[in-house]
Amino acid sequence: MGEERRITISVIKADIGSLAGHHKVHPDTMAAASRILAEAKSKGVIIDYYVTHVGDDLELIMTHRKGIDSPEIHGLAWEAFKKATEVAKELGLYAAGQDLLSDAFSGNVRGLGPGVAEMEFVERKSEPIIVFMADKTEPGAFNLPLFKVFADPFTTAGLVIDPRLHGGFKFEILDVFEGKYVVMSAPEEMYDILALIGTPARYVIKRIYRKSDNEIAAVVSSERLNLIAGRYVGKDDPVAIVRAQSGFPAVGEILEAFAFPHLVAGWMRGSHFGPLMPVGLKDAKCTRFDGPPRIVALGFNVSKGRLIGPADLFDDPAFDETRRLAQTIAEYIRRHGPFMPHRLGPEEMEYTTLPEVLEKLKDRFVEAKEYEKRIKPKLRHSALLSGEPHE
Ligand code: 13P
Ligand code: 13P
Ligand code: MG
Ligand code: MG
Repeated sequence: MGEERRITISVIKADIGSLAGHHKVHPDTMAAASRILAEAKSKGVIIDYYVTHVGDDLELIMTHRKGIDSPEIHGLAWEAFKKATEVAKELGLYAAGQDLLSDAFSGNVRGLGPGVAEMEFVERKSEPIIVFMADKTEPGAFNLPLFKVFADPFTTAGLVIDPRLHGGFKFEILDVFEGKYVVMSAPEEMYDILALIGTPARYVIKRIYRKSDNEIAAVVSSERLNLIAGRYVGKDDPVAIVRAQSGFPAVGEILEAFAFPHLVAGWMRGSHFGPLMPVGLKDAKCTRFDGPPRIVALGFNVSKGRLIGPADLFDDPAFDETRRLAQTIAEYIRRHGPFMPHRLGPEEMEYTTLPEVLEKLKDRFVEAKEYEKRIKPKLRHSALLSGEPHE
C-alpha cells in the first residue's frame, strides 16, 4: 500500500493523418509512435504502454507514476504524435497533423488538439479497467452510456444488490461552452443530472467518483476541437477510462450500457447524427458515409503498473444485434440526406463550413412583408441551450 502503489493511466489520442480519407490510421504512423513510447519505457519514464487506433485516431495508452497533467508524459505524447505526423506527411496521408492545432508545446497537450483522459489511483489487488475509444463522434457521446452504468439500476444490477455500489456515484459535469464544472450526486439528483447531460454538445460528463470514499471510477476526454480552434477541424473523437469490479460496476455491467446504439453527433464531416456502433479492433474503421460512428472497448488488468491485456471486449457475437440495429438506424437516418435531424442543428453547424455558404447567400435575401416579420425569435443559441431568460 501507500504512495508507491499510486499509478496513473493516461490515454492521449490524436488524429495525425489517415489512410484513404478519414478511414483508418496507417500502421507506419503507429510504429513511429510506438518507438517513442518503447524508448520512454526503457528509460523508466513510463511503466507500460499500448498503442492502437480506432478509425483515424491514434491512441496512446500509458501507465506511469507521474500523476495526471504531467508535463513529462504530455511531452512524450506530443513527441510521439509529432513523429507519427512526420511519417504521415511523408506518406502523403490525409489530413496529416489534423489534431495538432499548435506547433508550440508548453507542458500540457490540453488545448492543443489531442484528447486526454487520465486518472490516478492506488492499485487494487486486481485492477480491471476498460479503455473506451470512439471515432466520428464527440465527448458527450459518453453521457448516455456512463449515466446508465453509474446511475441506472436496469443496467447495473450492482447499484441495487451490491452494498459497495449502493451508495451511488458523483458526476462531475463540464459545461464546455462556459468552462465551468458542477458536481452532482446520483441517485438523489438524477433528474437534475439528466437535465444537463441530455444536452451532450454542451454538458459533458468529465469524471465519476464513488460517493462512499471519493474513489475515481471514470474519466472522459472533454476536448472540443472546434471550440478550441473556432472552426471545423475534425470531430473530437473521445476516449474514456472506466474502473471495473470489486466496488465498481462489473465489466459486463459497463459493457451492457453500449448494447443500445444511441444517436451521437459526428459521422460525416462531424455534422450528422448517427448510431454509435460497438466494434472489435478489426472493425475499428469508418466506411459508410465516413461511419457509422464506432466505439472500441479494450479491457486491461493493471498490475504493478503493467498493462496486462488487452481483451477486445466488443469483438463478440453478443454485440451482433447491437451492430445490426445500428445498421438499420444508419439506413433509416441516412435517407434524410441533408435534413435535420440527421444533419446537426444550427448551433453545432456554426463550427463547420456551413457559415461560409450562408455568408455567400446573405445579400440575396430581400425584406419580407411587414406582417411576415411579426414573429421574429430573439433567441441566442446559448440561451436556448441553458434555458436562461432572453429578451
Ligand atoms: P465483483 O464483486 O468482483 O465486482 O464481481 C461481481 C460479479 O460477479 C460480476 O458479474
Ligand atoms: P475525423 O474527426 O475522424 O477526422 O473525421 C472528420 C470527418 O470529416 C469525417 O467525415
Ligand atoms: Mg480525420
Ligand atoms: Mg477520427
